Amino acid sequence: MKHRAVKRRSVVLGIGAGAGAVAVGGITLNAQASTTASTAAASTSAGSTPDSLVFDPDAYTELTATLTDADGADHEVTYHFWKALTYVAKPVDEKYQSLNVNVPVKIDGKKVDASRAPILFANSVGGYMPSSVADATGVGGGGMTGMPTGGASGSPAPTASSSGGTGTGEVQSGGNAMVNGGEMVSLPKLALVAGYVVVEPGARGRTLKNSAGEWYGTAPAAIVDLKAAVRYVRANKGRIPGDTARIVSCGVSAGGALSALLGASGDSPLYDTHLKEIGAADASDAIFASGDWCPITDLEHADGAYEWNWGSNELSTGKQVDQTVSKQLRAQFAEYQAGLKLRGRDGFGPLTARNYDDYLLKQYLQPSATTYLKSLSDSARTDYLAANPFLTWDGEQATFTWAGFLAHVGARKKTVPAFDAFDLSAGENNEFGAGTTEARHFTAYSLKHDTSGTTAKRLAADIPEQLRLMNPMHFLVGKANPQRARHWWIRLGTKDSDTSLTVSANLAAALAGLGDDVDHRYYWDQGHGANTDPGDFIAWIAKVCGATRK
Ligand code: DHB
Repeated sequence: MKHRAVKRRSVVLGIGAGAGAVAVGGITLNAQASTTASTAAASTSAGSTPDSLVFDPDAYTELTATLTDADGADHEVTYHFWKALTYVAKPVDEKYQSLNVNVPVKIDGKKVDASRAPILFANSVGGYMPSSVADATGVGGGGMTGMPTGGASGSPAPTASSSGGTGTGEVQSGGNAMVNGGEMVSLPKLALVAGYVVVEPGARGRTLKNSAGEWYGTAPAAIVDLKAAVRYVRANKGRIPGDTARIVSCGVSAGGALSALLGASGDSPLYDTHLKEIGAADASDAIFASGDWCPITDLEHADGAYEWNWGSNELSTGKQVDQTVSKQLRAQFAEYQAGLKLRGRDGFGPLTARNYDDYLLKQYLQPSATTYLKSLSDSARTDYLAANPFLTWDGEQATFTWAGFLAHVGARKKTVPAFDAFDLSAGENNEFGAGTTEARHFTAYSLKHDTSGTTAKRLAADIPEQLRLMNPMHFLVGKANPQRARHWWIRLGTKDSDTSLTVSANLAAALAGLGDDVDHRYYWDQGHGANTDPGDFIAWIAKVCGATRK
């Protein structure tokens, strides 16, 4: 699909040693400085930061591109582009453990000073796969790499087929791929044209295997890498443009899960040994705000949540999943939900498996349908209502039942269990692989029902720790992490059956219960990876960053 945000890129050029402005073909470029010389100069002020992690303010390429803003208007943006900076001192794989920095300097001919601008920290993880920015030629060029080729035990694609055989195998997300009515949405590009600094980190992912047959990108590699990248930015405060106290993370799906985890787990000592191992900079990895689209998170409880939500919906084949398994998993969700002791927002009271349908309807789904119907022309609304009799419209508000809603969504995307597949075929089984083992169970239930032939009698000893490192809920429920982000933007399509609709609602309820600023909405009739209000997110960044700025 063609990217909407870039219509024309007029200059892409980097020149060797020697600073200063150079005129090429009538366009002024800033020459790329010699990295060694300026790194040495900068490192005098770097304190404990190793030389290799000192950001060189002069080592950029100046690029100019026509970028479209969230309102659809084109702007000529001149920006400084730092490419593939390795963000750890002891990289395992620099292709992934590197980041790009984009800083706007001129928009429509007017100089902009982004030295104190918010920093959008945009990961491009999809499907818990590796993501790299090393081959990008400008802003928004990061992407998921290493799609499995489907060998004997090839890992499945991240979305439709992740629990084996339910879908088409198409990849609907990844590479920060978000869609708005069929158009691609690039938050990095929208943020740059809004005058923000944009940092795009790569990260290791689950399909990476070295020559010794060891899986080196499985949990917790991706979150450790993203934290290391935040630390790199922080350690370079004063050298890297932008306000390092206003780092706003974003991501979609697995990337949304990691963005949420980054927000929840800021500065947690649980990651220290992992960060040390790769030579992360000695700095804070707490972030200011977190933007999370369709986060595929809370993985160890996601099978139960999935059955609670989509358990009675048929697969696209028209078949129902095994209802005995589905009901057992649903019962696990009820127990889990009760144990969380979360309260619904706006005075709803305790959230349980018994009232969660009502909560979703009142708090999210009916308001979402209402907003959608209000946005339609009279004739389009009439048509929509005629085609969707499950929905009642009184001229002001949409109402419908949970059963009506489930029928409206239709086929569930995944088989049962959705995440910890009995045959170890889900992407998440690979995410919890370790050493030379490609895929492992991470729930006792699926281990008990294993069909892969594993001889393990109990979950591997490190699994509880891995789950803890990968789940934002662990940092929010019980003893909450005081270093978490306090501003949250969470979005999910109402037709997204990649996970349960309760997953992001629980995240939002936990955060709101802690008093954090949470903007959580569901996009009506949208599927996985939707982002239909990107301009609102860009404006929200300005609001939350400005409101608390001293
Ligand atoms: C993604 C989608 C999934 O269904 C999943 O289980 C994990 C990740 C994704 O699109 O990133």
